[in-house]
Amino acid sequence: MSYNLLKGKKGIISGALDENSIAWKVAERAKEEGATFTLTNAPIALRMGGIQQLAEKCEAELIPADATSTDDIENLYQKSMEALGGKVDFVLHSIGMSPNVRKNKAYGDLNYDWFQKSLDISALSFHKMMQTAEKLDAINEWGSVLGLSYIAAQRTFPFYNDMAEAKSLLESIARSYGYRYGKAKKVRVNTISQSPTRTTAGSGISGFDSFFDFADSMSALGNAPAEDCANYCLFLFSDLSRMITMQNLYHDGGFSNMGISEEIIEAYGKK
Ligand SMILES: NC(=O)c1ccc[n+]([C@@H]2O[C@H](COP(=O)([O-])OP(=O)(O)OC[C@H]3O[C@@H](n4cnc5c(N)ncnc54)[C@H](O)[C@@H]3O)[C@@H](O)[C@H]2O)c1
Repeated sequence: MSYNLLKGKKGIISGALDENSIAWKVAERAKEEGATFTLTNAPIALRMGGIQQLAEKCEAELIPADATSTDDIENLYQKSMEALGGKVDFVLHSIGMSPNVRKNKAYGDLNYDWFQKSLDISALSFHKMMQTAEKLDAINEWGSVLGLSYIAAQRTFPFYNDMAEAKSLLESIARSYGYRYGKAKKVRVNTISQSPTRTTAGSGISGFDSFFDFADSMSALGNAPAEDCANYCLFLFSDLSRMITMQNLYHDGGFSNMGISEEIIEAYGKK
């Protein structure tokens, strides 16, 4: 169903890799809600091809950008403003990657060069996207910038590894830049803390299936699906949320406020 929530709005959506990606669902729904936007991903991800189909479906220009490169990000905003005919109203940062997680490094045996890469790709890139936008004056007043986070920023989930630090940093950047950009241009900055979701990045975490099932059993509504996360993103891009900024917003079926659930007690009792 379409509510025309984003009619006339222009944006940039990063991180759609395949049809499971949260950003993929955001792009599909943003199109349905009347937005025009560009799509971006790392050059290597663009070579994989899936995203071309999404670009065709959404009539969106595809602009390669490594999110760790400020030159690439500058080019992304410039090309986006050319393609869309002006400044943007929303930016989705849906980017995460940890070489330590990928290579199954234990938290007590981290490779520090990789740790810095995790932080650069998954968190500093959020700052780079905003600093570059501010310098180019690429975002309209009352625009909305959104990143995707996970509750490991606040609580310990051992298998989440150095991504926990990356998410803490991401959320902190949302607060700090949210203040700065709000004062300067009334631009809003938030993060959504999403339930475990079956995507390439999600499934890369060791023990993901058990982790997914546990969270599902611990949440009043069950895990929040990617489609619902996309709807929440659209709400935060829309004028309905114009006074929400500097927040980390849980989108997790209630998980973050649970201590223990009856289902978990029952499952534990059977052991
Ligand atoms: N899947 C989950 O369980 C879950 C839960 C909470 C939050 N998140 C977050 O949601 C966001 C999107 O992840 P997803 O689950 O849709 O997985 P995904 O693998 O589909 O998306 C991650 C994206 O990051 C991109 N990326 C990696 N390195 C990059 C770089 N250097 N430059 C530009 N792009 C780069 C990848 O190409 C990919 O498109 C991430 O921030 C992730 O941490 C995911």
